[in-house]
Amino acid sequence: MIFGMKRVASGILPLIAVNRESARALHKQIYDAYRTAIVDGSLRPGQRVPSTRALALEIGVSRFPAVNAYAQLLAEGYFESRVGAGTVVSRSLPEQLTSSPPAKGQLPKSRSEPRPVSRRSSVLPCFRVESWRNGWGAFGVGQVAVGQFPHRVWSSLMARHYRTKDPKSFHYGDYLGSGTLRQAIAGYLRTARSVHCEAAQIMVVSGSQQALEITARVLLDPGDRVWIEEPNYSLARTVFAMAGCRIVPVPVDGEGLDVSVGVKLYRKAHAAFVTPSHQFPLGVCMSASRRFQLLEWAEDQGSWIIEDDYDSEYRYDSLPIASLQGLDPSRRVIYIGTFSKVLFPSLRLGYLVIPLDLLDRFMFVRRAMDICPPHFCQEVVADFMRDGHFARHLRRMRTLYRDRRSALVDSIRQELGSKFEVLGGEAGMHLTMTMPARNHDLEIAERAARQHLWLWPLSPCYAGEASRSGFILGFGSTTIDEIPCAVRQLRNLLTAK
Ligand SMILES: Cc1ncc(COP(=O)(O)O)c(C=O)c1O
Repeated sequence: MIFGMKRVASGILPLIAVNRESARALHKQIYDAYRTAIVDGSLRPGQRVPSTRALALEIGVSRFPAVNAYAQLLAEGYFESRVGAGTVVSRSLPEQLTSSPPAKGQLPKSRSEPRPVSRRSSVLPCFRVESWRNGWGAFGVGQVAVGQFPHRVWSSLMARHYRTKDPKSFHYGDYLGSGTLRQAIAGYLRTARSVHCEAAQIMVVSGSQQALEITARVLLDPGDRVWIEEPNYSLARTVFAMAGCRIVPVPVDGEGLDVSVGVKLYRKAHAAFVTPSHQFPLGVCMSASRRFQLLEWAEDQGSWIIEDDYDSEYRYDSLPIASLQGLDPSRRVIYIGTFSKVLFPSLRLGYLVIPLDLLDRFMFVRRAMDICPPHFCQEVVADFMRDGHFARHLRRMRTLYRDRRSALVDSIRQELGSKFEVLGGEAGMHLTMTMPARNHDLEIAERAARQHLWLWPLSPCYAGEASRSGFILGFGSTTIDEIPCAVRQLRNLLTAK
């Protein structure tokens, strides 16, 4: 319970229809409705039920039948009540009396088979959350240093906005997002990322993931070819696959995506998806000549470039790398950014920079999708940026993550020697440790997850056959003190037979 906030003993009203014409007494009808709802599982043990007063009011009867029905249900053990806690469905009902949800794999057989789903959703393999993906702790990818976040500032900004009585704050907002936030983002991108943009081109979205989904819906048709980096960010690959696109994996070398190979594989691709500032997962920064080659290709072919600039704010040994979008005179680049690394991922806020001539297409798709982003968090982020907290937080985090990165690289060298190549530690919140392809990174990652060590295997990042294996190691949430022990644990996993 939140401090100082009174808990209200009130349950959701169940669907109880009483029939005054019926010969059955009203209290009996209420009793039967509850008993049936408990037995068929619509009401579950421990679930709160409304007070007799609230129920009587809602279904339009006097309080007496409701009181009588509740007394009967309490006496028979269907309900239990505690002083101050209201009445709940009894927690001690025998299992055979209540229907619990069917266990996975035991779904009741439908009378009308088959049960067709779209081709779009069935291009993907069966959904399962990999054991190594979502655990919290050492080497978890995409995890930020939560303890270092300015929680006090954030909560006072939240409180300031939630106190507002302005009715507009409670209504649907602009499809593109809050005007003040878009101004703040545009200013930041022009200054820090050399992006050519005005606030009018910014669309606030629910993370890069939604930015990709909207972009694919606006720009691509089923059957269109899309270049993606090989290896790549699998959640981007999923979006293009679900859009019905044909994926063309283009190898990444020391200069980034190899444009000449892409041209040989499929010159007329409709789009290329790239992470030029810090290639995911190999960490390469795309060279200037490749950037110009890619832009030239897009202009010649009339193709689109989707630039995912997901963690470039953190660059440790040089100044941040300017965006690809800023080099593009032909407005062929759709730029995507996110607050997941610089603030935190559960915020689910990111943004798109859209060429002005495409703006209405993006707005149509956005409106059909989820109308607009949530209001309050946007205003908090706008204040956070405008009042200087964002810049201060970035500076602090850059130093913190740089130190964690260095500790991790040193520890890998010390414990594992030079057998493993360490890539991509110049930027971001993760680095990649590669080993020869025959090593079973997936199996090791699964074993590591059972020991609460969260290694992302490299080989599933390949759309085709993996030419390398290894691990993506996040250091955002792993403290300097934890690193040596976690690396020793990794060494033990690698050497275990
Ligand atoms: C390549 C890449 N893009 C984007 C993101 C962030 O996605 P989102 O903004 O949806 O949280 C990540 C997160 O790990 C990533 O690795």
